Amino acid sequence: MASQTDQPQRLRVLSGLRPTGEIHIGHLAGALRNWIELQKKYECYFFIADWHALTTHYADTSDLQRNIAGNVLDYLAAGIDPEQATLFVQSDVPEHAELHLLLSLITPLGWLERVPSYKEQREQIRDKDLGTYGFLGYPVLQSADILMYRADYVPVGEDQVSHIELTREICRRFNNYYGEVFPEPQPLLTATPRVPGTDGRKMSKSYGNAISLSDPEAAVREKVSNMITDPARQRRSDPGNPDICPVFAYHKLYSPQDTVEMVNVECRRAGIGCVDDKKLMTASLLQALAPIQERRRELESKPSTVREVLEDGARKAKVTAEETMDRVRTAMNLKPGVEQSAAE
Ligand code: TRP
Repeated sequence: MASQTDQPQRLRVLSGLRPTGEIHIGHLAGALRNWIELQKKYECYFFIADWHALTTHYADTSDLQRNIAGNVLDYLAAGIDPEQATLFVQSDVPEHAELHLLLSLITPLGWLERVPSYKEQREQIRDKDLGTYGFLGYPVLQSADILMYRADYVPVGEDQVSHIELTREICRRFNNYYGEVFPEPQPLLTATPRVPGTDGRKMSKSYGNAISLSDPEAAVREKVSNMITDPARQRRSDPGNPDICPVFAYHKLYSPQDTVEMVNVECRRAGIGCVDDKKLMTASLLQALAPIQERRRELESKPSTVREVLEDGARKAKVTAEETMDRVRTAMNLKPGVEQSAAE
């Protein structure tokens, strides 16, 4: 008996990031490093969620193409390998919009109104009007992204878990009405180091406290020299507390173990001052960024390579997307001449 394929099917992983600004070291530690590991074991789809970016940044889209291009360079430079993973831009696969529409038909408003990020963002983001149909539908579009590739796992941060939960609910409802089309995706919560911003708050472009992967050396030095440290350490002779110091958090990510241990001891007994400590850390950070920036420069000099990566990614994504849409249209009786019996 001939088997369909000699290789067992690899489980599918899908994840995306919104192109709202430059990729920073928080993204690298929180998402990208993880993706780079996952691409070795799973069939991975990674994408740039440009339509999602526009659910909030719709009023001024002038940065969009620059952000997309910069983010792709950073992904590739950091180690996303287009030979292993499918890397694409959401809007290059318009099937996402079709599935979003179809899923919106079966999604009760109440499910969307009670998504925690919806309420929070509407309250917190004051400079934009988020009282739009599109913003309410954000997690429906995200569900379409995930279900389109029939993903088994979705690597995301804690803040996205409610969106995956909603995706699972929409998935079950769809399968109930129209028959088993989608597997239920699961969030993949990998423990990742939290990278504080240079001011100690969560790293975010909108706080102006991020260190970008593409920041030139002078910018990195400047940002680190302005970093906050233990606020109780006023004078050079005061002992410091590395546990609450963002500079120390970066040491743990980028410095060799013996440096981390030395700083941990010397800071506490005022053996090393913040200025020298920052110099040490800057050297480690720059060393970590150097190979990424080197690859980025190489890629920048070959714009056709990047274009080909995205074209190829969209082509591969579309093969799966079309397969899914074919099943969806059949299941929903959207194909003339194909009579589909109700869900068994
Ligand atoms: N909402 C995600 C974020 O802000 C981005 C995203 C869009 C996404 N579609 C997705 C993540 C699908 C995982 C799967 O980070």
